Amino acid sequence: MSRHPGWPARLGPLRVAGGLVTVRSLKLRDAAAWSRLRMRDREHLEPWEPTGESPWDMRHHISVWPGLYRSLRAEAHRGHMIPMAIELDGRFCGQITVGNIVRGALRSAWIGYWVEKDVNGLGVATAAVALGLDHCFGPVGLHRVEATVRPENLASRAVLQNVGFREEGLLQRYLDVHGRFRDHMLVAMTVEEVPGSVSDRLVRGGRATWS
Ligand code: ACO
Repeated sequence: MSRHPGWPARLGPLRVAGGLVTVRSLKLRDAAAWSRLRMRDREHLEPWEPTGESPWDMRHHISVWPGLYRSLRAEAHRGHMIPMAIELDGRFCGQITVGNIVRGALRSAWIGYWVEKDVNGLGVATAAVALGLDHCFGPVGLHRVEATVRPENLASRAVLQNVGFREEGLLQRYLDVHGRFRDHMLVAMTVEEVPGSVSDRLVRGGRATWS
């Protein structure tokens, strides 16, 4: 039985320049789309992601998905994580993950995401992160969500800024990414900073519409 108030879930849709963005729980049947995009977009993704323990092609082979999916789902059932797919017009195009969910007096988590290269710049990640944050501050019951991003990752920094994250500082040599420990900026948002919802703020700012 799930002890997690925000899992499983289906969020949105929000309409952006690229189409209709929905965020939903990962599924076993995401295997083929996940593997195809991760293999194809390696150059686009690898510079920004934690260094893996095995070669990229091996880690993203379609045969890896069932085991990975089951371990993510188990973490979700324990209430530690919310692993979600991002869909554009009903098609898998990336992932958004809420991780390290801590309850008690902290009620905090981190959020991370990736989106396939072909649809970049069309507002997909921005909409997905807004929907994810509203889920965290609503049904999941979190007080704080943070994210870490390499200073060089200008696209991701723009996403974080556009949904309203606030910079808290620089974490030196924080995470092993693409083969080396890299500095990361720490950004955060607490529920008090979101009167209404993050998605509504995007809609009011003309970045998205409710569909
Ligand atoms: N310099 C400055 N801004 C840029 C650049 C650049 N080189 N490239 C893109 N941008 C801006 C865009 O103009 C847009 O901002 P705007 O709406 O104000 O014009 C913003 O970056 C991108 O917004 P979206 O279109 O919503 O984002 P997209 O769907 O393209 O996804 C993402 C962005 C997730 C970073 C994607 O490129 C990706 O998956 N990259 C590889 C993996 C990655 O970096 N993941 C994030 C790691 S950090 C973390 O998870 C907290």
